[in-house]
Amino acid sequence: MTEKGNNQGGKNKKRVIVAITNQKGGVGKTTTTVNLAAALGRAGKQVLLVDLDPQASLTEYFISPANLTETVYDLLKTSKTITPIRLGEYISLLPTNIDLSAAEIELPTQLNQERTLARKLRAYEFDYCLVDCLPSLGVLNRNALTAATLALIPVTTEIMAERTIKLMLDSVERVQESELNPGLRIWYILPTLYDGRLSHHKEILAALKAKYGRLVYEEPVKATTKYKDAVTSKVDISELDAAQGEYWDRLAAQLIADAEEKEEESATGEGTK
Ligand SMILES: Nc1ncnc2c1ncn2[C@@H]1O[C@H](COP(=O)(O)OP(=O)(O)O)[C@@H](O)[C@H]1O
Ligand SMILES: [Mg+2]
Repeated sequence: MTEKGNNQGGKNKKRVIVAITNQKGGVGKTTTTVNLAAALGRAGKQVLLVDLDPQASLTEYFISPANLTETVYDLLKTSKTITPIRLGEYISLLPTNIDLSAAEIELPTQLNQERTLARKLRAYEFDYCLVDCLPSLGVLNRNALTAATLALIPVTTEIMAERTIKLMLDSVERVQESELNPGLRIWYILPTLYDGRLSHHKEILAALKAKYGRLVYEEPVKATTKYKDAVTSKVDISELDAAQGEYWDRLAAQLIADAEEKEEESATGEGTK
């Protein structure tokens, strides 16, 4: 993998960093990261995955975290960069293991701690970088939000969804207002694990749409056991369920369209943000 200087500008060199984040566990962050990355790869984009969760589910999806010689912990704690692991023609991974849990305690003693990931990511080449966040609002999450162009917030359509989203949105706002990353935008709130046969899922989805409007992605991710089968088989969902694969292709196409629109806005100075 090539490691090069920052943002060269120009249409082919845009770099979009998406933090996939929610302080709640089990809402589909890792599943979203894997399947959105696979879809971006099918669209011919180079994707860098960052596993920012010490539980290492994203890393385990692809490889065994046991024998890693360098991890995201080294990236954040030392002055060196680490070599991404190639997972295929389009996707590579900055892997993690449980060592990263120490970073939540150690990073706050470093100067400019929140900017560490943003700074380190400048060394890597990619079209899209997806950061799979840990379920917490601590310093690692602030690092992801500081580095990110966009935040994608997967949520389950459960009773606590609104409260969960509020905490997450407050956290995004703090990063914007603290000037760590004033340009950070929420891309979408993404309803996941959705079962349209359940009336409480339908009601909560409707309530989220009423409250957050177009910020809620129109089409929720369906709950299907195939997602668990995909983890076991270490494949993305498109290999087990073509319709679900197409769902992620549509989301990836939307991301590509939105990212290019943003780029044109900034090129012409017509941005609204
Ligand atoms: N759409 C879905 N349908 C069924 N199971 C899902 C779906 N999305 C995720 N899961 C399963 O739910 C669990 C939690 O998902 P995960 O992506 O690991 O969440 P998080 O990263 O937010 O903790 C995993 O076992 C995953 O396989
Ligand atoms: Mg996860």
